[in-house]
Amino acid sequence: MDDADTVGALHRALLERFGETVEAPAGLAGLAGLDELLRMATHATHRAWTDRAVEPGLVRLLTGCALGAPSKSYLQQADVVDLRDPVLRREVEALVPSMPWIADAPALLVVCGNGRRFRRLFERRGLPFTNEHLDGFFNPTVDAALVMMNLIRAAEAVGLACCPISVLRDRAARLAELLCMPAHVFPIGGLCLGWPAGRRDVNPRLPLSATLHVDRFGEDRDGTLDDAAIDAFDARYVTAQSGRRPPGAGPSKSWSDERATQYATAQREDWGDFVRAQGFDTR
Ligand SMILES: Cc1cc2nc3c(=O)[nH]c(=O)nc-3n(C[C@H](O)[C@H](O)[C@H](O)COP(=O)(O)O)c2cc1C
Repeated sequence: MDDADTVGALHRALLERFGETVEAPAGLAGLAGLDELLRMATHATHRAWTDRAVEPGLVRLLTGCALGAPSKSYLQQADVVDLRDPVLRREVEALVPSMPWIADAPALLVVCGNGRRFRRLFERRGLPFTNEHLDGFFNPTVDAALVMMNLIRAAEAVGLACCPISVLRDRAARLAELLCMPAHVFPIGGLCLGWPAGRRDVNPRLPLSATLHVDRFGEDRDGTLDDAAIDAFDARYVTAQSGRRPPGAGPSKSWSDERATQYATAQREDWGDFVRAQGFDTR
């Protein structure tokens, strides 16, 4: 594809994603990295894979690229576990039987926040650790999320498809035990990797007019502007989903109905207990 084709494809992808035109600045053609922007704009989570293996060497390369993510105060509080032992892998998969795409995935990683190393710097110097509060949990969480995102970017760059798996955190204590996580280490989620078994449609997002703010949130303190954006998004979502449903399946629920149903019962109520049991003070 030449630059003009890539810019055209980027426009179409963003229109499909946001339901509104995202104007390209003049001179966009000719900028480096347009292919990468197009890849990001067409991102889709996958849950079906071919039988082709994902070589451990490739996982190592992708992880090496991902772990170069920025790190809060250069504290390097993110680790990745590549699950290669088939017996251990089966045990981890068995924690989430409701998601068979985890067992099907050629590779499964677990991305972790690691607050242990930071504390060791102090222990080794015989110094008290003076940052035992919520920020001490939040920082490794953010570092780990950036590494997870970088892993997805790296994997998608070479043509792999991914599915993050936060549902593994439903069984966080058992997962921590299986993976021998020390105190102050916790999973933020799993990541399935595989070669995609097919194409996936792009999932729409709320329009930039609702989620990209210039200078301040000011106008929407009571949430009514957001209500309008949500209603419009719901309509767009139903249309997008209807085209994807099998014949006779009837109309899709709206995005807000689906999300409200999904969270109608409390989820992962024991997560705070797990985090505190790993040694974090979450005040
Ligand atoms: C932190 C995080 C956790 C997720 N956990 C799961 C999961 O447990 N199982 C799953 O099938 N998808 C999971 N997903 C994928 C989301 O469902 C998906 O990103 C969302 O539906 C939007 O689809 P898209 O990525 O194709 O745009 C997760 C995504 C993120 C960012």
